[in-house]
Amino acid sequence: MVVILLGPPGVGKGTQAVRLIDSVGGEHISTGDLLREACRDGTDLGLEAQGFMDKGDLVPDLLILDLIRDHLSTMDSETSIVFDGFPRTIAQAEGLDGVLLDVTRGVNEVVVFEAPEDELIKRLSGRRSCTDCGAVFNLHFDPPTSEGECGRCAGPLVQRSDDQPDTVKNRLRVYESQTAPLIEHYSSHPASLKRVSAVQPVNDVQLAFRAALGIGLTV
Ligand code: AP5
Repeated sequence: MVVILLGPPGVGKGTQAVRLIDSVGGEHISTGDLLREACRDGTDLGLEAQGFMDKGDLVPDLLILDLIRDHLSTMDSETSIVFDGFPRTIAQAEGLDGVLLDVTRGVNEVVVFEAPEDELIKRLSGRRSCTDCGAVFNLHFDPPTSEGECGRCAGPLVQRSDDQPDTVKNRLRVYESQTAPLIEHYSSHPASLKRVSAVQPVNDVQLAFRAALGIGLTV
């Protein structure tokens, strides 16, 4: 199965993807995580992407499609995939169809997570991530037990640089202008498109997500 998670910054795509994959297996491909790793490693891609990410703009489609092509070429073609934060433009969606067709696969499901803007801003302002294990917390909804310390591995918790208010505003604008049109795009695509309200506790969103995919309901 190939699943695409669509939705604005902070709606919970990463949170839901990790929960699903931890429980049912498959691969979680987050272009945001891959780009942040490239930035940390100082690769050519990272150096090129950093400026776009700092402003909350999209990294150019060609760089993203190369990244995805390279990543998929290392994977078993039977492995289920959950794409999180990709595709983000019509050009990326069309590029993905081409890459998948080369390995006789296609997108099966598109799930759109929805939440109002004030909720997204609150979630993004409170998000803290562990630099060691990548676990994600939220100061408002899921606070770590010790301030600044990961509850899983005791690593340091940091705020993402693009979660600053001005960058968040731009990311929300960029989502509306460049990514939201994908909802219409996938409405007339062979993949099935479902909408899930993300304004409920994380476990309830997960249940609704699984129901949308037609898979087991135990969280
Ligand atoms: P990326 O990392 O993809 O960011 P995003 O899409 O903006 O999404 P986020 O990671 O901010 O949010 P999320 O929906 O995953 O929410 P999360 O689960 O963390 O992209 C970053 C940048 O990289 C882009 O701006 C761009 O520059 C570049 N980029 C990436 N992909 C690209 C592409 N394909 N093309 C071009 N450029 C690209 O949750 C958020 C917070 O809310 C957390 O603290 C969480 O604990 C909390 N939370 C989650 N669910 C709930 C809930 N139900 N109730 C309460 N709190 C919740």
